[in-house]
Amino acid sequence: MSEVHDAIAAIRNRRPQSVVVFTGAGVSAESGIPTFRGSGGLWRNFRAEDLATPAAFARDPKLVWEWYEWRRGLIREAQPNAAHRAIARLPDPLVVTQNVDGLHERAGSRDIVELHGNIFRARCARERKTIQAREPFDEIPPRCTCGALLRPDIVWFGETLPAGAMERAGAAIAAADLLLVIGTSGVVYPAAGLVALARGLSIEINPEASSISTACHFAVTATAADATPPIVDAIMEGR
Ligand code: OAD
Repeated sequence: MSEVHDAIAAIRNRRPQSVVVFTGAGVSAESGIPTFRGSGGLWRNFRAEDLATPAAFARDPKLVWEWYEWRRGLIREAQPNAAHRAIARLPDPLVVTQNVDGLHERAGSRDIVELHGNIFRARCARERKTIQAREPFDEIPPRCTCGALLRPDIVWFGETLPAGAMERAGAAIAAADLLLVIGTSGVVYPAAGLVALARGLSIEINPEASSISTACHFAVTATAADATPPIVDAIMEGR
């Protein structure tokens, strides 16, 4: 376990130029969006197999959409926090996120790989066409203009990630001088496997030990909103 000043000293020493930021639900926790695991986590109160699998959607699309409409409402009201804003101050990072909340983009980050989709996009279950869908739907489950059901454009358990996303993320992480890993439990693959590809300095920010803490050079035990801004400041000093 490390203190934030240990990580800052390493950044000052190495002066990393290329940076990749890899985030999970914990980066949005201080925006009021529940994480999946741990105390208060969504998977403590809901069963993923009832809500986040193709079989669940085939069985009961209304139930699945009601749960997503509830989450879409929470996320619509949420604001990016100090961690999202600090990440957006970095001049040219690639942000690789497991989150579907779109908060990195709202904070101003421009180059983002969304490994697990976006909750404000829906996809036709028949034609695979996607639509932007920020506002609540009039009808649940919503339908495409072709008459088929729409589904959230989110990667459910058992599904493959968007084409090219892992390749782009993996290549950038392998080439980066610094990997920041913020707010992920590191248990969902293939995303969690990305951390092992890092060749440069790696720093985790998470108030709890995660499955990938020991794979990082520094595991800063602090919240994203507390530790990310001073770490970004240290990166910017070297520019
Ligand atoms: P998890 O809920 O598994 O883990 C969240 C992590 O954030 C935990 O390790 C917490 O300790 C940490 N955390 C909590 N509060 C924090 C804070 N304020 N600052 C920093 N860290 C904090 O979330 P993910 O690892 O993102 O899949 O989960 C991976 C995937 O599992 C998600 O993308 C989701 C889920 O099923 C889909 O939606 C497809």
